[in-house]
Amino acid sequence: MNQEKIIIAIDGFSSTGKSTVAKQIAKHLGYIYIDSGAMYRAVTFFAMTQGFIDNEKFNIEGLISKLKSIDIGFKFNEDLGFAEVYLNGENIENQIRTLEVSNFVSIVSAIPELRQQLVLQQQKMGIKKGVVMDGRDIGTVVFPDAELKLFMTASADTRALRRFQELKSKGENVLYEDVLKNVQERDYLDSTRADSPLFKADDAIEIDNSNMSMEEQFETILKLVMAVLNK
Ligand code: DC
Repeated sequence: MNQEKIIIAIDGFSSTGKSTVAKQIAKHLGYIYIDSGAMYRAVTFFAMTQGFIDNEKFNIEGLISKLKSIDIGFKFNEDLGFAEVYLNGENIENQIRTLEVSNFVSIVSAIPELRQQLVLQQQKMGIKKGVVMDGRDIGTVVFPDAELKLFMTASADTRALRRFQELKSKGENVLYEDVLKNVQERDYLDSTRADSPLFKADDAIEIDNSNMSMEEQFETILKLVMAVLNK
């Protein structure tokens, strides 16, 4: 087997289970897993807690002026088996997955100045390779030369149900209809924004996991990884 490390870029719509399988693959290979969506969520959390988003009023210029003071990092948590996200030194892993953050994150992540800053940081994280990164523009913008690019899809209903169950299991009081609406709105906003919209790279392999178990997804992706490593 070729011992050289590679970059695995996993893009796709929201709640396609990218992060779950990405974490498993990274663990199996001894690679670093990076959840790029968590970085956009962290900035959205910052914007909400610092008053740049208030009652649906959005002070974009104010947020842009503070971008340089936002430090986002990851720290591996041995007990959880993955890296948690930190905002200016504070662990905010549990605060960024709420429906409220999800409702604003597509607006925040459309800001070109922010994308530029986060893409540079993501590229630095991949300099030594051995990275599995998931998001919306990883195979198209962040790592256009990634050795393996995957594009995950599933029906909006399937994805909304998964996200609904996840939020419920964390004790969030949400309605399925609101989660479905959020999934559909984010699909639309993420794939129609002007800067780095979500689309499948020409050389990405599409995986529709609507009817696949976690094990099937893991096995499918691992085979693709091995095919690249054994080239
Ligand atoms: O993967 P996620 O659902 O946690 O991502 C949250 C949002 O962040 C998503 O709706 C769009 C944005 N995002 C992005 O624009 N680019 C990325 N590379 C990752 C996420």
